[in-house]
Amino acid sequence: MISNEVYEKLERVINPTHDIKLFSGRSNPKLAQEIAEALGTSVGPMIIKDFADGEIYVQVKDSVRGDDVFIVQPLCKPVNQNLMELLIIIDAFKRASAKTITAVIPYYGYARQDRKTSGREAITAKLVADLLTTAGCTRVLAVDLHSGQIQGFFNILVDHIFATSILVKYIKGLNLDMDECVAVSPDTGGVQRTRHFAKDLGCPLAIIDKRRDKHNEAIANCVIGDVKGKNCLMFDDIIDTAGSITEAAKLLKKEGAKDIYVCAIHPVFSGPAVQRLTDAPIKEVIVTNTIPLDTEKLPEKIKQLSVANLLGQAISRIHDDESISSLFGFEKEMKV
Ligand code: R5P
Repeated sequence: MISNEVYEKLERVINPTHDIKLFSGRSNPKLAQEIAEALGTSVGPMIIKDFADGEIYVQVKDSVRGDDVFIVQPLCKPVNQNLMELLIIIDAFKRASAKTITAVIPYYGYARQDRKTSGREAITAKLVADLLTTAGCTRVLAVDLHSGQIQGFFNILVDHIFATSILVKYIKGLNLDMDECVAVSPDTGGVQRTRHFAKDLGCPLAIIDKRRDKHNEAIANCVIGDVKGKNCLMFDDIIDTAGSITEAAKLLKKEGAKDIYVCAIHPVFSGPAVQRLTDAPIKEVIVTNTIPLDTEKLPEKIKQLSVANLLGQAISRIHDDESISSLFGFEKEMKV
């Protein structure tokens, strides 16, 4: 259970006594700006532009010799361009003699290919780790990686933080009776993270048995657990095409669920996602701003919460060599 003490730490006003060098690529400058504000600093000057053929040009405008540098760049759409841009930015800082280079990657793209599920496939999560390391990155700060083992794909430092508390706090603010709620994992792969979510909210857990017969197509087979007459709080790390979540929502309704709320960390929102979420029997969709969204064009039922303060806390602690796990109260919970 997340204690009030942990919430207070996460929401504490950051008061750095030092100069943090924060920079941003082009994939989520608004989030970088919010992080800078939380840290009481500004985003450093850098030129990023495209050549006529699509190649990317980067120049850091201030000296960073001997500095600890943080670069904010989620690997969201256009993922290949944003990844390449991050690699080039890292290279520019390496050649500018920065002491340490931390890639702040609120959304780690290519993470879902983290193992071979059949013959002759790539493991892109490992490839991206190798590319970042080769470019000169010395540390990665990531939010809710698709799977924890991705940390082990790196031979450099990885700080893996979780935005679940932000979603849990929002749900708690709805003042739902937790005796009438159930947390639902939309697939078996998400059981562990949804179990934590359920524990933090103090409600039971149900699981959807999901199948994918075709690429990008999700079928919700059956529900394991009691959802009849209950408010269902679904939790996932990523909403991509929204197939998994909306198929699950339809099944939950068929099984007699009351209101359905969806919480997810990363709103990838590809292709039909927004339309599917609009049409589905879902009361609210709560996501974070690890990936930028044009909120004005979204239906009212989609809410976006900021991870800026959380990232600001983590950056400040990395810079000051302070514990990050204590920020989340992990140490108390750890059983060896
Ligand atoms: C799968 O393992 C992930 O956790 C998400 O459930 C999945 O990526 C969502 O994809 P989509 O929204 O396209 O169904």
